[in-house]
Amino acid sequence: MCGIVAYIGYRQAYPVIIKGLKRLEYRGYDSAGVALLNHGIKLYKKKGKVAALEEITIGKDLDGSIGIGHTRWATHGEPSDRNAHPHLSANGKLAMIHNGIIENYAALRHELIKKGYVFHSDTDTEVLLNFIEDIQKNNESTLEEALRIALKRIVGAYVIVLIDKDDPDTLIAARKGSPLVIGIGKGEHFLASDASPIIEYTKEVVYVNDYQIAIIKADELILKNLGNERQTPFIQKLDLELAAIEKGGYDHFMLKEIYEQPHTIYDCLRGRLDVSEGTITMSGIQNNIDLIKNANRILIIACGTSWHAGLIAEYVIEELCRIPVEVEYASEFRYRNPVVHKGDMIIAISQSGETADTLVAIERAKEQGAVILGIVNVVGSSIARISHAGAYTHAGPEIGVASTKAFTAQLTVLAMVALKIAKERETITNERYLHLINELNEVPEKVKQILDGADYIKDIAAKYKDVPNALYLGRGYNFPVALEGALKLKEISYIHAEGYPAAEMKHGPIALVDENLPVIFVATKDTYHEKIVSNIQEIKARKGKVIAVITEGDETIKGMADDIMPIPEADELIAPILSVIPLQLLSYYIGIAKEYDVDKPRNLAKSVTVE
Ligand code: AGP
Ligand code: GLU
Repeated sequence: MCGIVAYIGYRQAYPVIIKGLKRLEYRGYDSAGVALLNHGIKLYKKKGKVAALEEITIGKDLDGSIGIGHTRWATHGEPSDRNAHPHLSANGKLAMIHNGIIENYAALRHELIKKGYVFHSDTDTEVLLNFIEDIQKNNESTLEEALRIALKRIVGAYVIVLIDKDDPDTLIAARKGSPLVIGIGKGEHFLASDASPIIEYTKEVVYVNDYQIAIIKADELILKNLGNERQTPFIQKLDLELAAIEKGGYDHFMLKEIYEQPHTIYDCLRGRLDVSEGTITMSGIQNNIDLIKNANRILIIACGTSWHAGLIAEYVIEELCRIPVEVEYASEFRYRNPVVHKGDMIIAISQSGETADTLVAIERAKEQGAVILGIVNVVGSSIARISHAGAYTHAGPEIGVASTKAFTAQLTVLAMVALKIAKERETITNERYLHLINELNEVPEKVKQILDGADYIKDIAAKYKDVPNALYLGRGYNFPVALEGALKLKEISYIHAEGYPAAEMKHGPIALVDENLPVIFVATKDTYHEKIVSNIQEIKARKGKVIAVITEGDETIKGMADDIMPIPEADELIAPILSVIPLQLLSYYIGIAKEYDVDKPRNLAKSVTVE
């Protein structure tokens, strides 16, 4: 959600910024802009894609080695040229880009209008910018001082980057709640929302923390807190290759990421699961094992697909560890008055590690004494950093907006966490423990088998691509898989889809069933198999079309379903990692058949850094 790129150094800033904004396109946006500082501020912005911005800059003056660029995901004011960032302050001296929301913008705007300010956009960003300008004017202070005063008065989340016509050698940035990475080169600095625009230039980065202000010159980086005290930048080495964020021969990132799953799951298990020794090594868990194994209760907090992973983990942890588990939407948890006790353990699940709702929810829980375990994909992200302990999912950069490989990696890590806790608590027999370790170890190969033979899913997609609605049903461990399947279809093909527990269907959604409604069953061989067979019969009796994800060789369902998507046999605890894969492909192929932009579906953002 929103991309920020800025440059200061000896190169031409414009190409660096444009290339960087393109690398951030996956985050989702609706307009783009750039401001360059070179004998004054040159500003170009345009509704639409970065390519549209490039078009309007053809033949224009793009000279300058300091600049800021932005892709906007509108929150305040429609997507339009005038609402696009950067914005200029009233006296034209300052230009600013912003990611996030200024919650008290209306009051500030009112205050500024009374003082004679005129606004040229509907954004909260322009309000903050003029607020800074106003403080600077009134106090005759430096921009840095004015910014500090302004930030103490605003409520909300932000990353902002400013340039000042009168100080052409400096970029000033600040962060609270949204992500900002600074790449350190020799005589140059790169700023971005994540590391992807930076890695081709330098691997040395600093993650800016909340309430920090960065004063950046070509050869100097100063970090300060809001109290004007200097803070030592913590320089980290990026463990990321450029190839990992490129398409590698696939038509879309989403397909590439689906097909990467045998590797990503393997990477997630590697170095942790040792089948011959029967051990699981996860230092983040091991170092806190007493707290974790004695937790009174586990609360899982997440959004979207990560929330679905949490629901599966609830079933697995309760079954194996006998600890009560509750799964919460982060956005609900943060605003109610939840009961959190010392001794509760929170598991926060997030691919990006930057989801604003999840981040704030765990901050709240942390204040109340809970221990936070982060299951995060992006190394060094905010959620990873504020967690007490955790485990990375090691799925590599996920660029497609629809989460695929991050989900299966989350399930893999959560299964290992559950097994580790169960073993410590002695709530699992050694035999079952070893069996499940073996099952996990076989997952990458089984995922490969599914993907190798998946071409037939294109035909199923062609058959159903024009339906207006779809229903996804599953029971037990596969119920959250049904939710995830429905979410994928909505996101990628804009077909209305609902996920439901298969038996709950009788309490309402069955009214939707007629000969036009496809019902996708996640019906692999498990404890509920006979029950779900009855649910399939109930749909067939009402002439619904049945598409079923089944265990290979399941002749019963094969004989009843209109279409089947077989997966290899697996223990029911592990099966969701496999059963979701045909559903990911089904959405992908339907989206492609409808000629939609599957990597960047409309209205969606990869990293939801506003609440
Ligand atoms: C997944 O396909 C979605 N785009 C979305 O639901 C996502 O899972 C959610 O926004 C949570 O993101 P996170 O895992 O980065 O916290
Ligand atoms: N709130 C700002 C706007 O609507 C910034 C949105 C963003 O993060 O892109 O312009």
